[in-house]
Amino acid sequence: MSFPTTRLRRLRSSASLRNAVRETDIAPRHLVYPLFVVPGQNERQPIAAMPGCERLSVDLLPEAARHIAKQGVSGAMLFGVPSRKDTTGAVAADPNGLVPRAIDAIKQAVPELLVWTDVCLCAYLEHGHCGVLRDQRIDNDATLPRLADMSLTFARAGADIIAPSDMMDGRIAAIRARLDAEGFADLPLVSYAAKYASAFYGPFREAAGSAPAFGDRRTYQMDPANAREALREVAEDIAEGADMVLIKPALSYLDIIRRVADRCDVPVVAYNVSGEYSMLMAAAQNGWLDADNAAREMLTSIRRAGADIVISYFAKDAQRLFPGE
Ligand code: PBG
Repeated sequence: MSFPTTRLRRLRSSASLRNAVRETDIAPRHLVYPLFVVPGQNERQPIAAMPGCERLSVDLLPEAARHIAKQGVSGAMLFGVPSRKDTTGAVAADPNGLVPRAIDAIKQAVPELLVWTDVCLCAYLEHGHCGVLRDQRIDNDATLPRLADMSLTFARAGADIIAPSDMMDGRIAAIRARLDAEGFADLPLVSYAAKYASAFYGPFREAAGSAPAFGDRRTYQMDPANAREALREVAEDIAEGADMVLIKPALSYLDIIRRVADRCDVPVVAYNVSGEYSMLMAAAQNGWLDADNAAREMLTSIRRAGADIVISYFAKDAQRLFPGE
């Protein structure tokens, strides 16, 4: 029998055939863009470690939202960078706070753009940890009502999706119960279910002013060495009522995304985090790799691993990266 040496290459012989047999598609609608909101007027603060990304005041958000919507991206994820912090997390639930005002500004400008709200106390607490402290230790159960208050404030302001990222145990059930009791039974919850204690959040902590003042997050975020633990976190959050589950970071955790996608039937979200963006952009600025091609490959690999939705700083360039999709 003759062995055709070109039998695999034949399927790659033309661009149209390659397009026709492509297994993974990625389009702007699969992407969500993170936005950092700062106090003030006409504030546009570039984030040094994240070229092309900036922190914006509320008055500049309508323009940013229109830009994102024009990219074909399906949503924006809001992070407040408040100047006022406290020790109880109460400021995070202020109905006149940055995020509620930002939600309102975006929904008025572009009603069809989905507004995701990150729910975590780290940017609102003086010590920068994700939960309230008692004797220098995180008090899990005392944190839950604060997260529920914060979620309810965002719900009342018009958020489309509530996404708790704090990693406290039981918060999905606590937030769900509060939202249901207050008339928001239809509002979806995306759980940052498997969030690893990662060095790749470095640039975000500069952007959000949320670095812990002491210690680290290893008592509540996951050990990068663990995979089965992620499946357990995901299963618990789904049992508590999560409508989608999120894995974070993405690139060093593609195996986790794949295992979660294979095992669960809720949509899987992956967060292509700040450090993943920064390292690519830094290399590109040195002329060491091509930013757009590397970004396309990166985002495609996250989709191929099983993510339905990817939160990414590259979303602001979605039309250039994925034209005609
Ligand atoms: C808040 C939060 C973090 C990120 C998203 N939500 C930082 C952290 O946990 O330290 C990181 C996002 C990124 O790096 O892009 N808890």
